[in-house]
Amino acid sequence: MGLAAIACPRVLQARSANELLQVACIGVNGMGWTDLSSVGTHPKVKFVGFCDIDSDRFTLVDQNYPGVAHFADYREMLSTLGDRVDAVIVSTPDHMHAPAAMMAMNMGKHIYCQKPLSHTVWESRQMSLLADKKGLTTQMGNQIHSAAEYRMGVMLIHNGVIGKVREVHSWVGVQGRQYNNRIDRPGSSEVPKNVQWDLWLGAAPQRPFAPDVYHPFKWRDWQDFGSGALGDFGCHLLDPVFGALELTAPISVQASHDGTNDEVWPGPETVTYTFPGTKRTAGSTIQIIWRDGGLMPPRELSQMPDGMELPKAGSMFIGEEGVMILPHVGMPLLFREKQSMKDVPIPKVQAGNHWHDWVTAIVDGTKTTDGFDFAGPVSETVQLGNVAARFPGKAIDWDASKLKITSVEAANRFLTKTYRSGFEVKEVV
Ligand SMILES: NC(=O)c1ccc[n+]([C@@H]2O[C@H](COP(=O)([O-])OP(=O)(O)OC[C@H]3O[C@@H](n4cnc5c(N)ncnc54)[C@H](O)[C@@H]3O)[C@@H](O)[C@H]2O)c1
Repeated sequence: MGLAAIACPRVLQARSANELLQVACIGVNGMGWTDLSSVGTHPKVKFVGFCDIDSDRFTLVDQNYPGVAHFADYREMLSTLGDRVDAVIVSTPDHMHAPAAMMAMNMGKHIYCQKPLSHTVWESRQMSLLADKKGLTTQMGNQIHSAAEYRMGVMLIHNGVIGKVREVHSWVGVQGRQYNNRIDRPGSSEVPKNVQWDLWLGAAPQRPFAPDVYHPFKWRDWQDFGSGALGDFGCHLLDPVFGALELTAPISVQASHDGTNDEVWPGPETVTYTFPGTKRTAGSTIQIIWRDGGLMPPRELSQMPDGMELPKAGSMFIGEEGVMILPHVGMPLLFREKQSMKDVPIPKVQAGNHWHDWVTAIVDGTKTTDGFDFAGPVSETVQLGNVAARFPGKAIDWDASKLKITSVEAANRFLTKTYRSGFEVKEVV
């Protein structure tokens, strides 16, 4: 039986009885390769377009999926292929997630978009609004969301194994500025023939190409392109914190670090969020404390027996009746008064396939667990932390409903950014 006959997936139904979901990919190497090769093992997927600004980076897709059309410019790919695309994977550097995904969503395409969902708070909000308005099936690319370890952590908190949660600490070893040993822009170099530098820059302000500083991968350090350690890992580590505590939006955030400039993200930082309490938390508010770059929470908070060490990255949920440590990535550890909670009934949890779950949800017309309705607020929170990092030591009070910082007027301009012509993101009205 053809797909069009069995369910009510909007896009597939609108087309002829073609059974396969036609997927186009933007950014086909690095994480893009992981995403598309994982989506590509779903039996209902057919690739119809591959886009990358670097012609040397098509080798893997050509070897594995020969004959699919190549493009350097996602705008050209989407307008050329038009209705032949049902769904799009966006795996570019952070600064181009929203321009590419918003164009595709405006054309009615379902989206799998890498984390962080966007480069700014405002963009995350627009992406959630547009996905909802268009009724699209979306998934953020923080695949560990679907891992058994993270699902187990969320379920244990929901089962009340440590009681209501008083405070959470999340930490990761990487820091915001670590892939280049520089804090200022290098001089200009000739652009290699394989790279379309203007398209790589996309929405970002013009700057000259330099080798081994931006493309590939090292763009992370730079404010114009990446999102620091918080942007890189916050959407992983804070995802189960949001899920477990059913958090909404922070009401305040404050960052501390040893300084930065207007070019690169800070080194080791601490970002303290205050959220309204929920039915999973002990008080009327709860603090979520983020640390990166080797900063760790005090070990004694963990109630771990002597001889055990905190994992290198993870989250510590401090509850009224015990502590849960959720390593990144590992099974949750439970402690009560320096004892392992061996008597706690451990539920059975199945891992999902994050990529396949997106495809299946499109095909079956069901809902993903990490759609932009859930992932948008996680990403907004992460990027709000990056706004706070530009004003260290200042309490950034946040009115999520109005998308406004109420305590530091000058911080509001960092909620969004200026787009280079041709790569704008339009407000959803
Ligand atoms: N979920 C995860 O575990 C995970 C891991 C790594 C990276 N990521 C995310 O994936 C994204 C990509 O990161 P990466 O490490 O693969 O970066 P990268 O620079 O190594 O690779 C990006 C790829 O996209 C291409 N590209 C860049 N700009 C493009 C554009 N405008 N149009 C089309 N193609 C373009 C590049 O040529 C390259 O092939 C980032 O958002 C990052 O945060 C997620």
